[in-house]
Amino acid sequence: MSKKNELIQSVKGTRDLLPGETPLWQRVEEEARRVFEAYNFREIRTPILEQTALFARSVGSDTDIVTKEMYTFEDRDSESLTLRPEATASVVRAYIEHGLYNEGGVHKLYYFGPMFRRERPQKGRYRQFYQIGAEVLGSDHPTIDTEVLEMLVLLLERLGLKEFKLLLNSVGCPKCRPEYLKKLRHALDAVKTKLCTDCQRRAQTNPLRVLDCKVEADQPVIEKLPYILDHLCSECRQHFECVTGELDERGVAYEIVPRLVRGLDYYTRTTFEITSGLLGAQNAMLGGGRYDGLSEMLGGPPAPGFGFAIGQDRLVLTVEESAALKMKAPLAVYVAWMGEAAREPAVRLACQLRREGISTEISFQQMKLKKSLGIANKLQARHTIIIGEEEVASGHYQLKDMETGEQRAVDAVQLVAAIKEKLGETFQSGRAPSSQAK
Ligand code: HAM
Repeated sequence: MSKKNELIQSVKGTRDLLPGETPLWQRVEEEARRVFEAYNFREIRTPILEQTALFARSVGSDTDIVTKEMYTFEDRDSESLTLRPEATASVVRAYIEHGLYNEGGVHKLYYFGPMFRRERPQKGRYRQFYQIGAEVLGSDHPTIDTEVLEMLVLLLERLGLKEFKLLLNSVGCPKCRPEYLKKLRHALDAVKTKLCTDCQRRAQTNPLRVLDCKVEADQPVIEKLPYILDHLCSECRQHFECVTGELDERGVAYEIVPRLVRGLDYYTRTTFEITSGLLGAQNAMLGGGRYDGLSEMLGGPPAPGFGFAIGQDRLVLTVEESAALKMKAPLAVYVAWMGEAAREPAVRLACQLRREGISTEISFQQMKLKKSLGIANKLQARHTIIIGEEEVASGHYQLKDMETGEQRAVDAVQLVAAIKEKLGETFQSGRAPSSQAK
């Protein structure tokens, strides 16, 4: 309990994104929207709160996420609720709940939003973090996997990223995996005493997870274990070959990493991650894969799926330095003047505003108000100052807020101060805060 008057701070592992940072976040979101919509994806928004069973059933009851990391609580009516640790399960739930499958065809959905996992906070790892994700539901065609991977690479390139690696694997299907798991268990029986205690437990409960272990001392043992990629059934092998073949055709570079099993249980066939050397220890910028049985697991009809989630916090960390993201500062003021008598005061005012560091534009020649406002709109000016002969005579100019449309007369002497006040701190030098992002 905090004492009265004691400073209350944000919860551990959560953070405030201040106005100096948000333009970059917005820019990343805008680019993602643009790229996703070019590939015909549409936005879906699902609740942050879900029934706990949704994640236990889909992500897997023996995964780190479900056993250690979820924010789960009992609601006042004793229902167990969880702050979503990821959104794939929610998207599939919504797809089933609203009968989207009745529309037939393939559904391409994308989402943005906060996720919650009680992990040990460090750079790039938070308890409230943000994902940008996309899911394709309704087909198991390998071209979907490739098209989505192509889309992801395009997005990263558009954001100016170069140093990233696409790591690819297949984790098989319910037909070939049980046979492989038998072999893996057998191999683990002989060596499990040499592994960490977590892996000794996983060897019993969820042996595939052993491959995902990050403990240094376990690595020499894990490297000698059988990999599922060598034990795929013919359908899974063919699927994987189609995906890699099409990636080659599209010129998307990848590296096959047979140990890549991912930390969630719903995956079948293709799994992947994109890592960035710029991220340090938490180098997975995004991850995803195919989940062909998930809809059935959640009580829905067969609806094969493929998708990914980008860790937006990590993506922003990697693009922060990128020159491609230096954003153009929006224009603060447009000065529109009408009538010869207005020219000189208008020019003087523009000069004064610019001397104050407020980005200002003014027409070289006089034009009708409608045309001036059209130009101001096109330049995305925040404010327009209108000076006609009447305004010159009264000494009060019209100040129009281009966002709200609100317009009022302001004493010419007070105009610069009034503009400064309207623009506030973030625009003090006439620049958007984004331009300061390093
Ligand atoms: P995930 O690998 O658990 O997959 O998370 C995706 C990405 O979210 C990670 O690569 C990482 O960038 C970011 N992330 C995860 N945990 C944290 C954290 N504590 N702090 C900061 N960033 C984090 C999924 O969530 C799946 N739903 C992806 C998916 C979609 N698979 C199919 N469709």
